[in-house]
Amino acid sequence: MLKMLICFRSLNPCLFFKPSCFSVLFFMWKVNGVLMPPKGPDCWPKADSRKQWLVFYRLDDMKLTGNGTIEGNGHEWWELPCKPHRGPKGSSLPGPCESPAMIRFFMSSNIVVSGLRVQNSPQFHMKFDGCEGVLIEELSISTPKLSPNTDGIHIENTKSVGIYNSMISNGDDCISIGPGCSNVDINGVTCGPSHGISIGSLGVHNSQACVSNITVRNAVIRESDNGVRIKTWQGGTGSVSGISFENIQMENVRNCIIVDQYYCLSKECLNQTSAVYVTDIRYKNIKGTYDVRNPPIHFACSDTVACTNITMAEVELLPQEGELVDDPFCWNAYGIEETLSIPPIGCLQEGMPQAITETSQYSC
Ligand SMILES: *[C@@H]1O[C@H](CO)[C@@H](O)[C@H](O)[C@H]1NC(C)=O
Ligand SMILES: *[C@@H]1O[C@H](CO)[C@@H](O)[C@H](O)[C@H]1NC(C)=O
Ligand SMILES: *[C@@H]1O[C@H](CO)[C@@H](O)[C@H](O)[C@H]1NC(C)=O
Ligand SMILES: *[C@@H]1O[C@H](CO)[C@@H](O)[C@H](O)[C@H]1NC(C)=O
Repeated sequence: MLKMLICFRSLNPCLFFKPSCFSVLFFMWKVNGVLMPPKGPDCWPKADSRKQWLVFYRLDDMKLTGNGTIEGNGHEWWELPCKPHRGPKGSSLPGPCESPAMIRFFMSSNIVVSGLRVQNSPQFHMKFDGCEGVLIEELSISTPKLSPNTDGIHIENTKSVGIYNSMISNGDDCISIGPGCSNVDINGVTCGPSHGISIGSLGVHNSQACVSNITVRNAVIRESDNGVRIKTWQGGTGSVSGISFENIQMENVRNCIIVDQYYCLSKECLNQTSAVYVTDIRYKNIKGTYDVRNPPIHFACSDTVACTNITMAEVELLPQEGELVDDPFCWNAYGIEETLSIPPIGCLQEGMPQAITETSQYSC
């Protein structure tokens, strides 16, 4: 078997790799010390992409593991004046803002990532794009709450994914699931602080988005801006279907359960006539506490394309402190409550809307 030991040495003061080595045993990467990229944008080699740091491209059957740490040195990237609220007086200045994702797997299959600690990424920590067969286990991702765009694990156009027994605390989505993902099983993940587990955003610039068969079980979400979220832009086609959230404990979470089909960034917020169709969504045994600044349950479905077949069972959410001001919200949402929810919802409509008969634009 082929075995190599790779060690990094500093070539310039910026390139600060701690004296850790990692061995490559065929397609096994083992990180046991601390592995670090150059520190901050000023040190980033001019010739290197600022889209990502470690890239694994067109690999099959590879494992990234070890008991070490991949440290992203993200602080200087987060403070760039182009980042949210980092400019003068809390503004964001224009200008090149690109910051590297720490680890990216691209067009690869049968990938295992396990055991590692991954922290302080300049941007997304781990990104899977165009992959098939991904197993993530016993990972610990940690970054401060106020670090911008530091999603924990992001997948898109990726199929057959298992994410198990991992801890994620960061400044953006704990796990984000983009367009083109299916057969994703998430079990035993603890998130927080974070922006929760998110499907989307989908359908940007009128694109087609297809997401199906996603299961999130036995999760704890704490101190987060969202719990479990589905977000789509106005415009767009395709569907989100076959989604199950089960046994989820919320601790002081805003928007514990949210479907937002009006996601937008300042511009492009006008209502459009098409939308990604959201259907067959199940929430079961979702309990805990919410932050009263937002209603814990919020279904804002598109005017033209209702959400259908939402099932809720054993949903019991109580205020962390204070009193709820707004009631749970439903707009154009169809489904059933199998047991009475707390707080009571009462706004889900029964049956199916008349409009969803012609389905070609929602098929995937
Ligand atoms: C990490 O793994 C290496 C190699 O397997 C081992 O020598 C070392 O003792 C481990 N360190 C810890 C803290 O478990
Ligand atoms: C749904 O995804 C799981 C993996 O999470 C897979 O085992 C199952 O076969 C998938 N179901 C369908 C109908 O594709
Ligand atoms: C879009 O539709 C929603 C629901 O009908 C409404 O609350 C919102 O004001 C509309 N937005 C615009 C920009 O028309
Ligand atoms: C509603 O969704 C559930 C999954 O949550 C699925 O089993 C069921 O077949 C769907 N019902 C209809 C009428 O599509």
